[in-house]
Amino acid sequence: MLAYWYFNKNLRRAGFHGRMSLSGSQIRRLRGLARRWSRFWLRWGGTGLVGRLASRFAAWTAPPHLGQVSLAYLTPRGYIDADATLYHSDLRLGQNVYVAPGVLIFEHGGGGAVTLADKVAIHRGAVLETGKAGYISIGAESSIHPGCQLKAYIEPILIGEGVMIAANAALYSYDHGMDPDLPIRRQPITAKAPITIGNGAWIGTGVIILSGVTIGDGAVVGAGSVVTRDIPAGAIAVGNPARVIRYRKDLKLAGKVDEQQ
Ligand SMILES: CC(C)(COP(=O)(O)OP(=O)(O)OC[C@H]1O[C@@H](n2cnc3c(N)ncnc32)[C@H](O)[C@@H]1OP(=O)(O)O)[C@@H](O)C(=O)NCCC(=O)NCCS
Repeated sequence: MLAYWYFNKNLRRAGFHGRMSLSGSQIRRLRGLARRWSRFWLRWGGTGLVGRLASRFAAWTAPPHLGQVSLAYLTPRGYIDADATLYHSDLRLGQNVYVAPGVLIFEHGGGGAVTLADKVAIHRGAVLETGKAGYISIGAESSIHPGCQLKAYIEPILIGEGVMIAANAALYSYDHGMDPDLPIRRQPITAKAPITIGNGAWIGTGVIILSGVTIGDGAVVGAGSVVTRDIPAGAIAVGNPARVIRYRKDLKLAGKVDEQQ
């Protein structure tokens, strides 16, 4: 109701009366108005009840999906969507963090911290879960895309800065015990070593990364690959199991390039 009143008042002030086509300057003024509205509410943004209420109001004037990410840059408090589920006692957030609707950050028994450094974006439906002293650390400006599963038990998942993890990737730092004399569900879980992803790596859609794997700085892992062994820095690796096919330093630019990037 308040939003409705605020917008009508300001739209009339900006020269909008009923249905009309908008000029460029009117669209700019409208966008400016929407930004002011969102920024106003996000001064109270955060993980608590008030913060969630504030982000719900703030999002009213923003486009959905990727259109919301810029809300995280309006104030250092970032944007934590009202429909994200944060069930974690040790969630450490840097500045301008984006957490989308439908994200689940979950602490299981004895789970360690989840740290999201500055400008990290966690997209819709991603699950970040810690248990049994496992923890998750995601470096500045990294993005975790829709539907990813990051599950850190016993050993951590350590993601560097500027890493892109595409939709539906799955990172599991643990395995189930496989002693032949016991049902697997009754066995303790095991872990080889941390999962580590170096700065600037790109993990393609649907990639699976297993316990103990290190992916070097700037490496690329092709869509749908299963990474069972370490991938060196700057390598391009594909397949199941993922094997290095070449190094980025040997590439010549090919294909169409989006000049706006
Ligand atoms: C890894 C990738 C970047 C490589 O691109 P590229 O350098 O143009 O590679 P090419 O198309 O020349 O393929 C080279 C070889 O690797 C194989 N290959 C490429 N990607 C593969 C993949 N994901 N899985 C298995 N094999 C793959 C090709 O079949 C080809 O094999 P061949 O030499 O026997 O014919 C690309 O294939 C890829 O997987 N991109 C990820 C897309 C994605 O997840 N986007 C999300 C957006 S965030």
